[in-house]
Amino acid sequence: MKIQSIRGFNDILPEKIKRWHRIEERARTIFELYGFSEIRIPVIEFTDIFARSLGTTTDIVEKEMYTFTDRDGSSITLRPEGTAGVVRAFIEHSMYAQSPITKLYYSGMMFRHERPQKGRYRGFYQIGAELFGSKEPLADAEVIIMLWRFFEAIGIAPYLKLEISSLGDENCRPAYKQKLVEFFMPSRNQLCEDCRRRLEVNPLRILDCKKESCKQIAQDAPSMLDNLCSECREHFESVKNTLTSLGALFVSNPRIVRGLDYYTRTVFEVTTEELGAQNTVGAGGRYDHLVEELEGPPTPAVGFAVGMERIILLHEKKFPEGFQKEVDTFIAHLGSEAKKTAFLLAYELRKNGVFTEMDYENKSLKSQLKRADKLGVKYTIIIGEEELSRGKVKVRDMRKSTEDEMNLEDVKKLAIKFRI
Ligand code: HAM
Repeated sequence: MKIQSIRGFNDILPEKIKRWHRIEERARTIFELYGFSEIRIPVIEFTDIFARSLGTTTDIVEKEMYTFTDRDGSSITLRPEGTAGVVRAFIEHSMYAQSPITKLYYSGMMFRHERPQKGRYRGFYQIGAELFGSKEPLADAEVIIMLWRFFEAIGIAPYLKLEISSLGDENCRPAYKQKLVEFFMPSRNQLCEDCRRRLEVNPLRILDCKKESCKQIAQDAPSMLDNLCSECREHFESVKNTLTSLGALFVSNPRIVRGLDYYTRTVFEVTTEELGAQNTVGAGGRYDHLVEELEGPPTPAVGFAVGMERIILLHEKKFPEGFQKEVDTFIAHLGSEAKKTAFLLAYELRKNGVFTEMDYENKSLKSQLKRADKLGVKYTIIIGEEELSRGKVKVRDMRKSTEDEMNLEDVKKLAIKFRI
């Protein structure tokens, strides 16, 4: 037997690992900034956890799970995704009793027996986040914005599109499903075999079929967004308005169905045109009944997961040179007092985790600014004797080309702003 890895499972070699580390670090920094804490859960759970969470008629549960019989006869499954296990842990450790809101993030390998191709593997890494305890649209907006900040922080946001929709809830979805059945019934025989079955068990899934003939029939199908009840419509409008107020760019796409059954209301996907067929780099949504379905107390929740390999592929394509040496801020100074202050400030900022560079010679302001530019820093702090005598410094935002005067003492505390 040839010694080789299993098809669809990859090694990540040392020469590639730096990029992984940097991207994972940024995710952690940003998620923690939003109040999320890491949880590490097993890669394997009782099969039932996934079957009950993801839905027995989903592709993942029907065809893609790595399921084994344990030595004691119990059925166990390598996790195809993280949400079900996090929900299981949330219930098992009564986290709901400890605080009204619980924010968790996780990363690790997931397993799906799919047909491997570029960007689609059988063993792949996800980073995900789940927020428990709020049904408010602000919670949806917060996790979406946090995800977007992560994409911005690693530089790939310009190549991504955020699409959102609502899948309604127990009040409006059943009637919508019925409408879909009525819509598809006359063309039943033109649907593929899978979709004929979907028509009985979950007609929504037909909207997601990749077969050309099914796609054509589905083109004029009624849209969930036109069939939301008033509460769901209000919720969806509010999520969109909040995102807009934060300056987020998104498109409403009523065709998002998602491949998992636990979703209610908000769903979203982040796609790119840079990667070919496997173009979804991350996705998520609200799942207000999953905790209850797994026998926990009723707890609304919302979350997402990103596919690390896809993010890495996109990052490699756009930034083949990898991450630039990181320097967040450059301190320029004029005069000997200013130089001393600059040195102390650099010490303070580095202590706060801000990558800082400064001039040690007594170069002209012009040449110091030139170096700051070359380093690609986000901010340049300019210390002049006159401002310094008033306890002030100038902070120049290099991207926006704007300058603010700030108290030196406040600048010392700017760690987070500078870092990401
Ligand atoms: P998902 O859409 O199944 O959602 O997967 C999330 C992301 O994982 C995808 O957008 C994709 O980037 C990546 N991914 C999925 N399958 C593969 C594969 N075979 N190879 C490489 N990458 C893949 C979930 O897993 C949900 N748990 C997300 C969620 C969290 N919803 C609420 N909370």
